Amino acid sequence: MNRRTLLKWAVRGIGATVAAMAGIPALIAGFSPVWQRRPHKENWQSLGPVDEFPVGEMREIVVELPPEEWGEALREKTVYAWRPSDREAVVYSRSCTDLGCPLTFDPGSQCFFCPCHGGIFDRNGERLAGPPKRPMYRYAVRIVNREIVIDLHSVPLVA
Ligand code: FES
Repeated sequence: MNRRTLLKWAVRGIGATVAAMAGIPALIAGFSPVWQRRPHKENWQSLGPVDEFPVGEMREIVVELPPEEWGEALREKTVYAWRPSDREAVVYSRSCTDLGCPLTFDPGSQCFFCPCHGGIFDRNGERLAGPPKRPMYRYAVRIVNREIVIDLHSVPLVA
């Protein structure tokens, strides 16, 4: 085997290794149950008394997840909640709609910022900039007995 042939096979080997390193995780992710549709079965959880949410103020809330459903791996989820008026509440997933990185709310600009690729959303969850193609994930919300409750199943599992 001459040097040219050896080099050609070395380059092919490196190419195949890189392709496998990138492709196998993508294949696994593609078949993951996280991406499968699930039948919608509501799962309502309280965020707390409505009086703890002053109108207009964005709050970051950690919701404990039922262990029988999400297992030990995912015990809690962070959401953002606010009340545009006395009668309504809005709750967003913290996950960016691009690739799921955790969004941070900036009270100064009243915007959500994604640390991964520069996605920006306004306080209404609308996309302002960056790669996300859709608004923020928004939970189904009810105010029941003066408590804000959300349906954990009303957003995609990855949110
Ligand atoms: S994950 Fe948020 S912009 Fe890419």
